[in-house]
Amino acid sequence: SAAMRLLPLLCVVVAACASSAAVIKRADRNDRPVIGILAQEVFKPTSKRSSYIAASYIKYLESAGARVVPVMVNRSEEEYQQLFNSINGILFPGGGASLTTSGYARAAEIFYKLALEANSRGDYFPVWGTCLGMEKLMLMTSGKNLLSQTNTTALSLSLHTDGMSSRLFQDFPADLMTSLATEPLTENSHKWSILVQSFNKTEELTKFYKVLSVNTDGSNEFISTVEAYDYPVYATQWHPEKNAFEWRQPHYPHSPAAIKTTFYMANFFINEAKKNLHSFTSEEEERKALIYNYDSSYTGGSFEQVYYFA
Ligand SMILES: *[C@@H]1O[C@H](CO)[C@@H](O)[C@H](O)[C@H]1NC(C)=O
Ligand SMILES: *[C@@H]1O[C@H](CO)[C@@H](O)[C@H](O)[C@H]1NC(C)=O
Ligand SMILES: *[C@@H]1O[C@H](CO)[C@@H](O)[C@H](O)[C@H]1NC(C)=O
Repeated sequence: SAAMRLLPLLCVVVAACASSAAVIKRADRNDRPVIGILAQEVFKPTSKRSSYIAASYIKYLESAGARVVPVMVNRSEEEYQQLFNSINGILFPGGGASLTTSGYARAAEIFYKLALEANSRGDYFPVWGTCLGMEKLMLMTSGKNLLSQTNTTALSLSLHTDGMSSRLFQDFPADLMTSLATEPLTENSHKWSILVQSFNKTEELTKFYKVLSVNTDGSNEFISTVEAYDYPVYATQWHPEKNAFEWRQPHYPHSPAAIKTTFYMANFFINEAKKNLHSFTSEEEERKALIYNYDSSYTGGSFEQVYYFA
């Protein structure tokens, strides 16, 4: 019948309308954000496992409505530039890679530079550093290694921050701010820290970052949360992703407020990424890049689950 013959044509028209509506919506806000997470070298590489990403970082971002692409180490600058133009934010995770000689360090340097340049020309591109990622950001911003050893390898701490005066915490519920200040909800597993005195002495850092929280290991005060004044650059020395997604150590907090902390941190960052309008050149390119192309492994130990890359 004529109706049957018209049907395919009708579908084409409807699809075209739907996709142009999506494009119009994308102009104000990108509700399909894709975030890059840096991979890093494993300690003992094998032919099938030379780098990894802990699955908790991926679940963390996914829990707030993002998709993730792994950023592999040791790729060309051109490849990183193209990926940068395709994604809406980047996360530098924690771990044990070298801050100067690893493929992780090199990728962080390239993406950080691209992000600062993009933001300076009005292309809003958020950057997040967690633990090692924060240490790398401090190194890149200051151009100096200012790290000191602290006794902070396995403990959870409370967080004292004035929520109203930061972008990061201003939309956190009041009860969660109270819990953060009174319960040990922030997990620390780092040997190195930026001491408050080192930070204060370094103009490159004091001009760039607002300190949102400090903590102490009992004798040394270190910087625990920062946001950049003029850029969407954020960092925590602590691990917001562990509370909801890692179970290995008895001090990992899992209380209702601890799980809320994980979610509100992720939610903040993903809302930042929704302000970025980069996209892949095609749906196929996007599909090929996503973490869904890889399987995670249950480690039975660190991180619970890890994505390994050849
Ligand atoms: C990446 O390059 C660095 C520096 O050359 C090297 O040490 C590292 O093993 C490489 N990583 C991988 C996974 O190939
Ligand atoms: C490190 O901190 C723990 C408590 O978190 C304490 O029991 C231990 O004595 C400290 N070690 C040093 C060397 O200060
Ligand atoms: C570091 O600077 C902050 C802000 O100016 C100040 O409140 C704090 O007392 C300083 N701390 C140290 C140890 O220098």
